[in-house]
Amino acid sequence: MESEIQKNRFRQEREELKKMERTVNNCPFRTRYHVMPPVGWLNDPNGLCQFRGIYHAYFQYSPLSVHGGGGYWGHCTSTDLIHWKYKEPVLTTDIPEDAGGVYSGSALIENDHMYLFYTGNVKLPGNYDYIDSGRISTQLLTESDDGQHMSGKTKLLGMEDYPENITRHVRDPKVWKEEGTYYMVLGARARAWDKEGERSDRGGVLIYTSQDKKNWSLWSELVPDKKFGYMWECPDIFVLSGTRVLSYCPQGLPAGEEKYQNIYQSGYSILPVGITAKMDDVFREWDPEDTFREWDMGFDFYAPQSFETEDGRRILIGWAGVPDTEKAHRNLSVENGWQHCLTLPTELVYRSGKIFRKPVSELSNLPWKDVAADKADGKYRKYHWADQAVAVKEDGIAGGERCLLIGREDNGLTIHVAGDKVELTFLNRDRQPSICGGGRRVRIGRVEDRVEELLVLIDSSIVEVFVNGGETVFTTRIYLDKKDRNLAADGRCRILAI
Ligand code: FRU
Repeated sequence: MESEIQKNRFRQEREELKKMERTVNNCPFRTRYHVMPPVGWLNDPNGLCQFRGIYHAYFQYSPLSVHGGGGYWGHCTSTDLIHWKYKEPVLTTDIPEDAGGVYSGSALIENDHMYLFYTGNVKLPGNYDYIDSGRISTQLLTESDDGQHMSGKTKLLGMEDYPENITRHVRDPKVWKEEGTYYMVLGARARAWDKEGERSDRGGVLIYTSQDKKNWSLWSELVPDKKFGYMWECPDIFVLSGTRVLSYCPQGLPAGEEKYQNIYQSGYSILPVGITAKMDDVFREWDPEDTFREWDMGFDFYAPQSFETEDGRRILIGWAGVPDTEKAHRNLSVENGWQHCLTLPTELVYRSGKIFRKPVSELSNLPWKDVAADKADGKYRKYHWADQAVAVKEDGIAGGERCLLIGREDNGLTIHVAGDKVELTFLNRDRQPSICGGGRRVRIGRVEDRVEELLVLIDSSIVEVFVNGGETVFTTRIYLDKKDRNLAADGRCRILAI
């Protein structure tokens, strides 16, 4: 049953959509295969699941402000993870516990019924630091029979249920069932001090268990002694080929030359124990830095969430964006009333101690056609596209040098590979940042041995680069006018378009 507040807020969303529809839809940066906000702002993917055969992607949504601020869970569905149908939002801020935001969360499907777990955020007005005071984080449950209409909201955990050493930052429940028990992992910021007695908070996760999805008790607190960022957001725990994986988004890692290049990171660690072992002791000794591997080396990737399809694949979708980057990233779609999108769904494959992320197989079922180059210029083939999605494929690289230019020489993205190294740069020949990069410069990633194959997918304003079948991936937004959508690719590669 929709509450009055909810009805009112959903009406506001519809009005904004009507008002902005033409402007948003005429924007040259709208994508074809990526989940976007119908209008306004989008961030994290939420509640990803397959329910009665249909894929559901919910997302953090601010239809009324292109600069974010939240307030809604947007909703879209798909039968193939590639084509998405936009629905009405499903959640908005209509109870005291979520007055400041219906924050991120996850879906659990059981007995033909959908359970959505999320964080209600409250920021009290006043002079607070919002770390130790002024913020209330509540874990909530809502249920659905159709993925669109939600039941009332039930409070599961409040500030009184978190351990003493945890600050007011506790959020993003990911829930799953294992051997008859329900588990909920939450991202948290623990109060801590360094050797000099200076405050130096530590990121970690809390794991709660339940027998009935309603009553939860603390089962494990995983805050490593060796600090790895001050806060972990959007945690996810799952099993891949018998291996236990923790995915998490640490904030506050100092940037390195070829690592942690964005303001906040997202990656995973292979856990040394199964879930059925109590983790606390193992993890006190554990150094996340030793095991952490970034999910993506591009400019735009954060807050991924995974889910299992009915045919048993583990799919991961990220937000193709990063919080708090307004100054570093001039997103050119803002003037047309929307910003950000989700990544393509990728399938996770565990191989030799690490996880490969490859585009879901549904993508190759699309009617891709090899395209002939518009012209050949020396060793490069040139191709111009405007509205198509394009895939550039090359194998047999064997660590050799390759270069791909998307856009024009004075305004483009260059992907350069040699040996084990892949570099994406928006800098032109004069080392000036290209307009199409929105102010960004260079990202570097490596593979373990050498680059063997490359797959570059371009869908209007997003480029996803898969190296060695997803061993290393780069996700990056790009803002090229249609007339500048050129490609100069090595003569040995295949160019496909759709
Ligand atoms: C990550 C995040 C989450 C939070 C949500 C709010 O981007 O900060 O921790 O739930 O966004 O929109």
